[in-house]
Formats: sequence, C-alpha cells, structure tokens
Amino acid sequence: MSYSFDTIIDRRGTDSLKYDFAAKRGLPEDVLPLWVADMDFTSPPEVLDALAEKCRHGIFGYSDAADEGYFGALAKWYSERFGWLISPEWLVKAPGVVFAICAAIRALTEEGDAVLIQQPVYYPFSESVHANGRRLVVSELVYSDGKYSVDLKDFEDKIKSEKVKLFIICSPHNPVGRVWRIDELSAMGEICLRYGVKVVSDEIHADFVYPGNRHQVFAAISPELAEITVTCTAPTKTFNLAGLQISNILISDPALRSRFRQEIRKTGYSQPNIMGLVACRAAYEHGAGWLDELMAYLGSNLDFVRDFLAREIPQVQLVEPEGTYLVWLDFRALGLTDRELDDLIVNKAKLWLDAGTMFGASGTGFQRINIACPRSILERALRQLKDALDSIGAAR
Ligand SMILES: Cc1ncc(COP(=O)(O)O)c(C=O)c1O
Repeated sequence: MSYSFDTIIDRRGTDSLKYDFAAKRGLPEDVLPLWVADMDFTSPPEVLDALAEKCRHGIFGYSDAADEGYFGALAKWYSERFGWLISPEWLVKAPGVVFAICAAIRALTEEGDAVLIQQPVYYPFSESVHANGRRLVVSELVYSDGKYSVDLKDFEDKIKSEKVKLFIICSPHNPVGRVWRIDELSAMGEICLRYGVKVVSDEIHADFVYPGNRHQVFAAISPELAEITVTCTAPTKTFNLAGLQISNILISDPALRSRFRQEIRKTGYSQPNIMGLVACRAAYEHGAGWLDELMAYLGSNLDFVRDFLAREIPQVQLVEPEGTYLVWLDFRALGLTDRELDDLIVNKAKLWLDAGTMFGASGTGFQRINIACPRSILERALRQLKDALDSIGAAR
C-alpha cells in the first residue's frame, strides 16, 4: 500500500456535515458518525496537487471544461473501465446528481405524473419526486435468501396500472449494495421501452464494485435504451469530492438532452465550480492507482465487518454488498421496534448511522453503515454496537 487509508484525519471543526452537525440534528455530540456517503480519506495526491496549483494561480474566474482535457479524461475513464464510448455533445455538467435528478424529473414528466423508484433506496429519490409535485410509485425490491432482487412482475404491473412516465434506477444500488447484472437491467429496460417510460440511471457508485461483479452502464446496453436514458455520473463519491459539487450527466438522445438542458437553464446554473472541474479532471487522469488501493482497503473493511458480526453479534446480519461502501445491516432478529432500534444505535451504541426507514417503509429493522473509514474507527464502531447489545442482553 502506498496510500495510508489507516490514518485518522480529524474532521471535527471542519464544517463537515458528517462530523460537525450531530447536535444541530438532535443527536448526542459524542456519536461516532458512519452515516452520510463521504469517506474519511483524503483524495488522491494528484487531485490535491492540481487543486493547490489552481490556488497558487490565484484567479478563480468563470471557467468551463474543454473537450480535449476535461472531456478526454472522462471519456477515457468510461471507455477503459466500462467499455462505454461517449461523445462530447452528450455531456451536460451539473452541480450534483440530486440536482440533475430533480431537473430530469421536471424535464421528462408533467406535474402529477407517476415516477417509479425501487425501495429501499437512497432517500433523495422519493424526496425529489415529491418536491417536484410528481406522484411517487414504489416497486419494492424483494429480499430473499440474503439477497435483494427486482420483482419484474410487480415492476411491470405498477408501470402499467399507474401509467408511470419515469423510472429512477440506482445502479449500483444504495443502500442494498446490488450491482445489477445485464440481464436484470435489460429486463427492466425492455419493460420501460414497452410502456414508453424514460429512465434516469444514477450510476454515481459505479466505481465501487467488489471482485466478481461488473458494473453495466444502463444506456450502453442497446441504442434503444440509450435513447430513453439520462445517465448520472460523478467523480465525487469515487474520489471523495462531494463538497466540490460537480457531476457529469450524459444523454445521447438530442431531444432528451435538449429538454434536460432547458430545465437546467431555468435554474440559472451555467458554468461549473472551477475547483470541481480541476479535481474531476485530475482524478480521472491520475486517480486509477489510488482507486485500486482504496477498493482493496474497502474490501478488507468489509471482510472485517463480516467476520466481526459473525463472531460477536451474529443476530445482526450483513446484507452482502456487491458494490458501494454503504453496508445494509439487518437487525430484525432483535425484535425491536424502529424507535427502539434507533435508541439502541444512537443513545446506547453512540453511533450515527442512517436508519433503514429513511430509505422507505421496507427499510424497517435495517440500518445503513458507511465503511469508508480507517479500520480502527470501524472497529470502535462495531465494539460500541456490541457493548450496546450486551447492555440490553441481546448479544450472545
Ligand atoms: C445513489 C446516490 N446518488 C446521488 C448521491 C449524491 O450525489 P450529489 O452529491 O452529486 O447530489 C448519492 C450520495 O450519497 C448517492 O448515494
């Protein structure tokens, strides 16, 4: 390892959403935070150097991204990692993926139209649908034998009966950790094509895939699917740049793209944040080696969690993730209500996780834990969890 993912970097007092806002959000000051999806690791050194170089230059005027440099780096990343060939005109830059999802909802549907999501899922999906005055339709993922899958019959029935206009897919899936296979994506895609449903494919976690799995870009499956799809990508999860607010939205169909662009224009957003541009380009140009080591580290963090739970608190089940650094834990064997479970996590274990119910009603009895932190922090968190379970007489 040439990067030191074990190093603990004090993030308190840095205006960090993860570390500095517990009291403001009604939690005890001393909770250990493993909730929001950013990492406790510094970004690749090449990214830090590029940002420092920009600071030294000292001028932060209006900026935009050139095709050769910025787009070239993005195109090379997607072609080499995912076999997806993209063209410069497909790119619409946005300050974030959630911003783009909201814009896509407005661009591709009318008020009152039905938008389908698959819960349990990243909660801004449902919030974005509601905030934009659209009707939320949920096709629940099915949890069976320790694995989540799509109920294709329910998916189709809901699309048909609710006259769904837009499907927002989370791929790879936060929080259940599925890396959807091509046959699963194709089956959902065929149904969308049959009923004239447009697709927003949120692929922000595409780079976090554990060995034995492969991320398939939804729009790359066929020209027909490309025509109906808005693909949301960003370097911000992969390289820990969320605060720099940059995302790359790729839309190959000119008509779809023009509707989306129009919606972005209405918000008044034009040029992206210069630091986001600089970091994104440097990350895609030079960050591959760092990412490989990060994935190995996350893989061993995952092994650690799996072993710890099996050995110390077997009542808590790990839902084995195929991708992402967000791990979905099943506490249902404890027989607690959601309120009791939250009390256990927050007040007894002194942890700040994301409660399963935030991701939809089917998240009841689950919690999401972010494992992108030094192993010693993860170990502390799991020990606190075990002590809390001991305190209520629930651990073995
Ligand atoms: C699936 C998914 N989409 C989008 C985001 C946020 O993206 P952004 O910060 O670009 O809005 C996250 C962050 O956790 C996420 O998990």
